[in-house]
Amino acid sequence: MSSLPTTQAPKGLEGVVATTSKICYIDGDRGVLAYRGIDIHELAQHSNFEETCYLLWFGKLPTRKELNDLRERLAQERKLDPAIITLLRNAPKHALPMDVLRTAVSALSFYDPQETSNDHDANVAKAIRLTSQIAMLVAAYDRLRKGQPVVEPDASLSHSANFLLLLNGKKPSPTAERALDIALILHADHELNASTFAARVTAATLSDMHSATTSAIGALKGPLHGGANEAVFRILETIHSSGADPVEYVKGMLAQKKKVPGFGHRVYHTEDPRATHLRRMSKELCQASGQPEWYEMSSRIEQFVKAEKKLNANVDFYSASTYHTLGIDVDLFTPIFAVSRISGWTAHVIEQLDDNRLIRPRADYLGPEYPAAYIPIDQR
Ligand SMILES: CC(C)(COP(=O)(O)OP(=O)(O)OC[C@H]1O[C@@H](n2cnc3c(N)ncnc32)[C@H](O)[C@@H]1OP(=O)(O)O)[C@@H](O)C(=O)NCCC(=O)NCCS
Repeated sequence: MSSLPTTQAPKGLEGVVATTSKICYIDGDRGVLAYRGIDIHELAQHSNFEETCYLLWFGKLPTRKELNDLRERLAQERKLDPAIITLLRNAPKHALPMDVLRTAVSALSFYDPQETSNDHDANVAKAIRLTSQIAMLVAAYDRLRKGQPVVEPDASLSHSANFLLLLNGKKPSPTAERALDIALILHADHELNASTFAARVTAATLSDMHSATTSAIGALKGPLHGGANEAVFRILETIHSSGADPVEYVKGMLAQKKKVPGFGHRVYHTEDPRATHLRRMSKELCQASGQPEWYEMSSRIEQFVKAEKKLNANVDFYSASTYHTLGIDVDLFTPIFAVSRISGWTAHVIEQLDDNRLIRPRADYLGPEYPAAYIPIDQR
């Protein structure tokens, strides 16, 4: 008798509940996203990235002392082994930052004092370390590929401010720091999205945090997931440089049955609550930086796609113009997603390993009927 269950999974596992989790709550019909029960709108308004990390990793909001302790630990971990800097320096000039990040995160395990330990405290320590290190990797690679020196972090600054300092070589304005901080809060976790699922599957084999994170980065890269923010800006750039009408351009994409990056979502059937903040930030930052065209183009595209296809903008659509106004290169947009999502990935790995069972589903076999004959090679 076959051990296959009778129910067949829908394509893309749509609607399948694959685990229990206490980290992230989503109501796709009402457009609700909450970390540990706290609405994302409240976090975006009142919290900061470090506090959000604490919430994800420890399951509650920190006291002032707990938050300061976490900030100190993040600051202590803001260092990279010289061998990692050499690896970044030796990456071929054409290497995409997302690919360099994937390889460098894997290499970080060589120098991690707790690489082989999978107990709870070691995993929390690795979550903190990886969060500090991933931000450094993205910024340091960008500087090295531009022939600029790597910048030293500043322990007195926030995680967001440190990232912008390490990237640009100067302390960011409070507006830029807060904008990035909100973007990091909004991207921090999203339940069983593709990259988090990949991380949990890898962790569940009792592999390790670095392997799980490397799997997650590989999954995040694709244009149907984190790669969409970069794809959005590439379209905006093309429209801008060619002088095309944004609506006509997108109409042309739809006529060719192409998907418009930054629209649609597997779970949300209404406004993605993260897009609400990113739209506002994009508008404010585009205006303040004297580049209103990026927001205006985006807004026209959004109105058209909504009217034509009934599709809502997702988290990636307005993050593209937001990051651009912060002076960030387009091929860093998806790595910045990882700078934030490392908090969620690691929270899920910790949760998985605290109560683990191997994740090993089945496939509905549709191949040639069993038993098919084995035909010797000279008779084929
Ligand atoms: C996010 C996404 C992958 C979800 O995919 P999904 O749940 O598998 O939905 P499907 O791709 O099956 O799309 C369902 C229908 O909506 C259409 N659709 C979905 N997203 C679309 C988009 N961005 N542009 C145009 N049409 C889209 C599909 O063509 C399909 O239409 P059909 O039924 O006539 O064939 C999908 O919306 C997408 O590719 N979006 C663009 C990439 C993106 O922004 N990703 C980041 C997500 S946060």
